[in-house]
Amino acid sequence: MKVAIIGAGVAGIVSLKYALEKGHECDCFEETGEFGGTWVYTDENGEHENGSKIYRSMYKDLITNLPKDVMVFMDFPYPEHVKESFISQQQVLQYLTDYVNYFKLNSHIKYNETVTKVQPLPDNKWKVTTQKSENLSAYDAVFVCNGHFRYPKFPKIVGQELFTGFQIHSAEYRDRRLFRDKQVLIIGASYSGTDIACQLKDMARTVYLSHWKPINIKIENVLNKPAVELFEFKNVVFADGSIENIDAVIYCTGYEYRLPFLDESCGITIKNNWVQPLYKHIINIEHPTMFIIGYPHSLPSFLASDLQARFSLTVLENKNLLPSKENMLKDLNDYLCNLRRKNIPQTQFHKVELGLEKYFAELVKISGIKHFPPVLLKLYMHKIKNPGKDDKLYKILDDENYITCSTISSLSK
Ligand SMILES: Cc1cc2nc3c(=O)[nH]c(=O)nc-3n(C[C@H](O)[C@H](O)[C@H](O)COP(=O)(O)OP(=O)(O)OC[C@H]3O[C@@H](n4cnc5c(N)ncnc54)[C@H](O)[C@@H]3O)c2cc1C
Ligand SMILES: *[C@@H]1O[C@H](CO)[C@@H](O)[C@H](O)[C@H]1NC(C)=O
Ligand SMILES: *[C@@H]1O[C@H](CO)[C@@H](O)[C@H](O)[C@H]1NC(C)=O
Ligand SMILES: *[C@@H]1O[C@H](CO)[C@@H](O)[C@H](O)[C@H]1NC(C)=O
Repeated sequence: MKVAIIGAGVAGIVSLKYALEKGHECDCFEETGEFGGTWVYTDENGEHENGSKIYRSMYKDLITNLPKDVMVFMDFPYPEHVKESFISQQQVLQYLTDYVNYFKLNSHIKYNETVTKVQPLPDNKWKVTTQKSENLSAYDAVFVCNGHFRYPKFPKIVGQELFTGFQIHSAEYRDRRLFRDKQVLIIGASYSGTDIACQLKDMARTVYLSHWKPINIKIENVLNKPAVELFEFKNVVFADGSIENIDAVIYCTGYEYRLPFLDESCGITIKNNWVQPLYKHIINIEHPTMFIIGYPHSLPSFLASDLQARFSLTVLENKNLLPSKENMLKDLNDYLCNLRRKNIPQTQFHKVELGLEKYFAELVKISGIKHFPPVLLKLYMHKIKNPGKDDKLYKILDDENYITCSTISSLSK
């Protein structure tokens, strides 16, 4: 079959690897000049000289918030010499580079080629258009791997436009050194908010961390604040009435799902950050030869993309593994009812953190693919319950067990 893959980040390269392994003819379109997506760092920010936007969100000195053992593809461990558990952005990118080289993926990636339109054709085929060409040869399947840490989400706050300080989204944050001796306000205390607060706490004069909900995060040298009520020229007024003089605001308020290149006829809509109708967060129920890889969040994304890619390729080959359209819609509806019953807002519908084990098990059961070893999910769950970076070293002993060590030398014992 002819397969189009959109994006060469984690989700794109793992999809490409397995699609080639199945003997498909693959074109992987990548907007930038490099593979790696999120894991590529660039100093550039904002816009290119020609006015086109730069979508990069990596920053300097980033250390992973998960141990590398759960940031892996199946049967492709990190090399022996990488001992530490929490590794740098460069080390992750090196891992992806090793993967691309080992499986000879590079010649299938079409760099500097942005997919601008995807449309279904008769006979379950697809037309894919890029800024370079309107390729008329039809594809049998499309893997959408465009990532969802791409379009920054900003809250609207009174007085924002009058504020004289510096305001950026975490997507534009690059180098902590720019904030030396500044009074910094970080809005949002999720992964990036807390991580950037840790980066700045010994660099900035003061770091305030604001969140709408009461937070139980204690970071040394970081002052917790409630929601921002309004901005005045140089000041920020908080919900508890306190006022602080602020030089720079960093919005760590997340990203939006967007699929600007999907033609309306693809049948996909996005409302309140919920992409639908998708079966198991992957399959376009209206056209089940379109697969979206890497969309659920709050999970080990390398492992999830690996599993989703293999799931998709298996059901693509063997269509009778999939339920009927009617039953896929029913499955989706049951999922929605369950979330609504739990009062989970629609913006959180792609968050599978709570039902993670069940979600992975379902993909395995439907398609019959091999699951990853249970120890990886155990370690991931342990990390979720004990967030933050520690100096611990994790060592996988076997499929079921890991141990924690405090020094590199004790790892080899
Ligand atoms: C700051 C930051 C820190 C993170 N830290 C961790 C961590 O410690 N551990 C962890 O497991 N995860 C972490 N993540 C999550 C991380 O994004 C995932 O691990 C993973 O890299 C997502 O891969 P992806 O392929 O889905 O998306 P991306 O990496 O975003 O890749 C998408 C690719 O698609 C391309 N593309 C988009 N649109 C088009 C188009 N129209 N045409 C052609 N190409 C297109 C993009 O250029 C990009 O290369 C972090 C994310 C961020 C933003
Ligand atoms: C992609 O574009 C960049 C910038 O224009 C260029 O430097 C690079 O060589 C191109 N890469 C490929 C593989 O064509
Ligand atoms: C703008 O420039 C960048 C970097 O050189 C390039 O990758 C991109 O394709 C250009 N965009 C347009 C619309 O020409
Ligand atoms: C269309 O795609 C095929 C392979 O999928 C490629 O060989 C060909 O060069 C493409 N045509 C154009 C005009 O880009």
